[in-house]
Amino acid sequence: MSQSVLIASGKGGVGKSTLTANLGAALARRGASVVIVDADMGLRSQDTFLGLENAVVFDLIDVVNKDCTLDQALIECPSVPGLRLLPASQFARMRALDSDRFRKILKILKITTDYILIDSPAGIEKGFRTLLNAGADQIVLITTPDDLCIRDVEHAASIVENKSLPRPRLIVNRLDNELIRQHEMPSARSIADNLDLSLLGEIPEDPVVYRSILRHSLFINYDCKARGAVLRIAGRMTGEMIPFPEIGTEKVSLIRRLFPKTVKEVTSLDRH
Ligand SMILES: Nc1ncnc2c1ncn2[C@@H]1O[C@H](COP(=O)(O)OP(=O)(O)OP(=O)(O)O)[C@@H](O)[C@H]1O
Ligand SMILES: [Mg+2]
Repeated sequence: MSQSVLIASGKGGVGKSTLTANLGAALARRGASVVIVDADMGLRSQDTFLGLENAVVFDLIDVVNKDCTLDQALIECPSVPGLRLLPASQFARMRALDSDRFRKILKILKITTDYILIDSPAGIEKGFRTLLNAGADQIVLITTPDDLCIRDVEHAASIVENKSLPRPRLIVNRLDNELIRQHEMPSARSIADNLDLSLLGEIPEDPVVYRSILRHSLFINYDCKARGAVLRIAGRMTGEMIPFPEIGTEKVSLIRRLFPKTVKEVTSLDRH
């Protein structure tokens, strides 16, 4: 059955776009037909993640304004068969997107697509609400493990709840093993429990993520920890029961127990 999935956050910069592109590719490589809808008007990024920046002719707002057909705007991703992109407009503002038209576009896409992943703009203002009003089947909220992001994601979850939409699932990004082990950072499980959201995935901080962006490539093309995390999320989305390795709570080897890696002490420069 076709699923539209809105990928959102409270605070910006938590990894929505990076994750949407890689998750879309991971689902397509499992044999699903996937469309990524870049709904971050004015700040489009999915074309770059997917190496399609020179292939964009029409965009989502052109479809909304009926300046082109949906088929004309959709771009096949040659490196990932089964994955297509509906790019965001580079110049239009979020207010150019109308919930009713967007809902109709999703409805048409659902006829030919297994997963529609919608990359939303930062924040919980009008753009987020317009996308929510179009009514996605699933909402996935992304947070990093810091108080500011967690507070904003809680706010986003309460807006979703007020609109009687399905309860969002949570992905915690940029987790650090050692900081969790030394109780400086909360684990993904504890964040999800505190927010009363079901945990869909946990992704470690991984330098390969940034390096892959510099290469205009996807991090799932490289052997890295973030790759494994996204493949597990894709598996869970398709209904597989994949256990959580629980970053920060893995068994520690004897060597590591004897010679623990210490987190460098942070020295305050405040004069009291
Ligand atoms: N697991 C990770 N490890 C290391 N860096 C990461 C990880 N996830 C994301 N990043 C980095 O975080 C930055 C922001 O990512 P991204 O643009 O995907 O966030 P966003 O939520 O889409 O931002 P915005 O709200 O502005 O749209 C990027 O530089 C990316 O490389
Ligand atoms: Mg983004």
